[in-house]
Amino acid sequence: MPSAAFIPSKFCPPAPTPLAQPLGAIALLRTLRDNPLEAWTQRFFEQPIVTMRLPFGTAAAVSEPAAIRRVLLDNAANYRKDTLQRRIVSAGLAHGLLMAEEEQWRFQRRTLAPLFSRKAVMGFAPVMLQAADAMAARWEAAEEDDTIDVAAEATRLTLDVLRQTIFSDGLGRDTEDFQEAMRCYFDTIGQIDPFDLLDLPDMIPRFTRWKVRPALRFFESAVDDIIARRRRRLAEEPNEVQRDILTLLLEAQDAETGRSLSEAEVKSNIITFIAAGHETTANALAWSLYLLSQSPEWSERVAAEARRELGAGRMREDAADRLIETRAVIEEAIRLYPPLAAISREAIAADELAGETVAAGTTVVIAPYVLHRHRQLWDDPDVFDPTRFLPGAREAIDRYGYLPFGAGPRICIGATFALQEATLVLATVMRRFELRLAPGFAVWPLQRVTLRPRGGLPMRVTPRRGGRGVADRERAARIYL
Ligand code: HEM
Repeated sequence: MPSAAFIPSKFCPPAPTPLAQPLGAIALLRTLRDNPLEAWTQRFFEQPIVTMRLPFGTAAAVSEPAAIRRVLLDNAANYRKDTLQRRIVSAGLAHGLLMAEEEQWRFQRRTLAPLFSRKAVMGFAPVMLQAADAMAARWEAAEEDDTIDVAAEATRLTLDVLRQTIFSDGLGRDTEDFQEAMRCYFDTIGQIDPFDLLDLPDMIPRFTRWKVRPALRFFESAVDDIIARRRRRLAEEPNEVQRDILTLLLEAQDAETGRSLSEAEVKSNIITFIAAGHETTANALAWSLYLLSQSPEWSERVAAEARRELGAGRMREDAADRLIETRAVIEEAIRLYPPLAAISREAIAADELAGETVAAGTTVVIAPYVLHRHRQLWDDPDVFDPTRFLPGAREAIDRYGYLPFGAGPRICIGATFALQEATLVLATVMRRFELRLAPGFAVWPLQRVTLRPRGGLPMRVTPRRGGRGVADRERAARIYL
């Protein structure tokens, strides 16, 4: 029998304790503004459905897998994206897949699906590994006592990967200016303006967006120029042009109708992919890095797996699929800290969910954050335990009880892309570094548009002995490029 010293202790990473009683109206509004994660009461984590009368209407939070399946799949036609979501997103996203509805959405989903197929995504693995190596090189150059904000680094990396997978032949203008405008654009479109909550018409300007208008215009016009230049190249030298997401978007044709995407749809989808894909994936990575910094056991398991699978001469096209323990850590990280903590829909007609009648017009909230810690669905829901996602255990998880990427027809189109990127990057980092949280820093989850660590994640990163593998991996990457 192992002695008690060898039994790993259970680690409950930081999260708000669910409230025993609901907050009063003013405190609720304040908490929804500051950090909605702190407003959930115990009932939500125990009951299949909880109905709430809020200052801005009725909402029902649903956490029963069968009822969620009904909303997202079986009766999905009765549930549309709600008006608040529409108001928050900028005009730039309006014609893209994320916000399209009905026939417009069906056409785009059919046409865009091949861009994110397994095969297409595997083709992006070298870019993801190069971005991981570039980040590792920056970290190696840091002084021993330097503190690195790994959350900010993860965001920089995911933007880098999207920039290179979408516009692989460069931007045609200063990269720094473009990156800055892009950062500003995506920071701004994520903000909820009080006027949005009050449902004021779009013609009334949102002051939170005024000061950044020049950056927004710069970014949108840069995207216009990039598209125009690529169209010219496709016409003049079609065989020389990179097969990146932009080319795939411009060439995409609906298999049913032969229709291509309009100019506005191409542009809106580029902006959509960056908006929906960068902060979400960055947070998945940041939370994984934090959890590993707290778990010597899993930190070593992931590093050992990376040495086996990413070592010299062993690089294979399906590397991300073979990093099974690394992926289990990421899946556990996005169970505990789902980057999209809640998704919502508006019921068009009345329906019955989990034994209760939901009136027409009700906002139905499906909160992965609550669902993933629900007392009825998980053992030790607040404990970090990646073994839940290892083969043999994973099959027992209800399909509609674990929804980091949503489900049904509107499931995240970028899920394979995001998981592959997070897996390759996490393995690269853990193979080469040991991570320690900066002394005295208290980690706390903050829900903005995505669920991120409040104040970032300052860490000390120490290169592992024998962890350098860039040169051999670059050699190996060329083998399958
Ligand atoms: C860990 C990273 C990610 C997470 C957790 C995530 C999560 C989600 C979720 C929950 C939805 C469904 C929203 C709903 O039903 O209301 C969604 C939709 C979507 N995601 Fe992701 N996402 C991630 C990465 C990405 C990436 C990398 C891309 C693209 C490059 C992307 C593009 C999209 C798009 C376009 C949609 C809308 C799909 C549709 O309505 O047909 N996401 N995502």
